[in-house]
Amino acid sequence: MFVVYESNTGFTEKYAKMFAEKTGLECWSLYMARIKVPKHSDIIYFGNVENGEVVKLKKARKKYNILAVCPVGLSMSTDAVKEKLREKNKLTDNSPAMFYLQGGYDKKKNIGLGATFINLIIKDLESKEELDAVEAQMLSDLKNGADYVKEENLAPLLRWYEEC
Ligand SMILES: Cc1cc2nc3c(=O)[nH]c(=O)nc-3n(C[C@H](O)[C@H](O)[C@H](O)COP(=O)(O)O)c2cc1C
Repeated sequence: MFVVYESNTGFTEKYAKMFAEKTGLECWSLYMARIKVPKHSDIIYFGNVENGEVVKLKKARKKYNILAVCPVGLSMSTDAVKEKLREKNKLTDNSPAMFYLQGGYDKKKNIGLGATFINLIIKDLESKEELDAVEAQMLSDLKNGADYVKEENLAPLLRWYEEC
C-alpha cells in the first residue's frame, strides 16, 4: 500500500507525510507516483478540496485501487460538510472509505485563478445577512489565513488503517 497526494499550498502534503511517517508507508505526490507507484496498486489518496471536489481524484481512480480518500479542505469537519463531499466525489457507501481532514488557508501561496475564486467567495459570504458556524469560520480564515493541521486529526484514519 502507498500514500499518494495532490496538494496546492502544502497542507495536504503535510498530512500525507505525517501519516506516512506514522505507518511507514511510501509517500509520493501524484506526479511522482507515475514512476514510483505501479498501476493498480492499493493506495490511500490525500487530495486538496477545490469547490467541493477532491483535486485529481478521478485521475488517481483510473490508475490505482483507492482504499481510502482523505479530502483536505478549509471547512470545519461537520456531518453536512462530509456528506456533501461524499456526494460530489462519488464516495457513498463508504467505498472507498473517506476521512475528511481540516487543512488551512495560506493567502500568500494562493495566487492566480485560485485567489480570484477565493475573493468571490469572500464577497459572497460578506453579502449574506446571517452566517452559520461553518460559513463564519470560513470567512474569517479566508481573510486572515489559518492552519488546522495537527496529528490528532489523523486518529480515525490510523484506527481504520490498523484494522485493515
Ligand atoms: C479555488 C479554491 C477552492 C476551494 N474550495 C474549497 C471548498 O469547496 N471546500 C473547502 O473546505 N475548502 C476549499 N478550499 C480551501 C482548500 O481546500 C484548503 O485551503 C486546503 O487546505 C488546501 O490544501 P493544500 O494546501 O494541500 O492545497 C478552496 C481553496 C481554493 C484555492
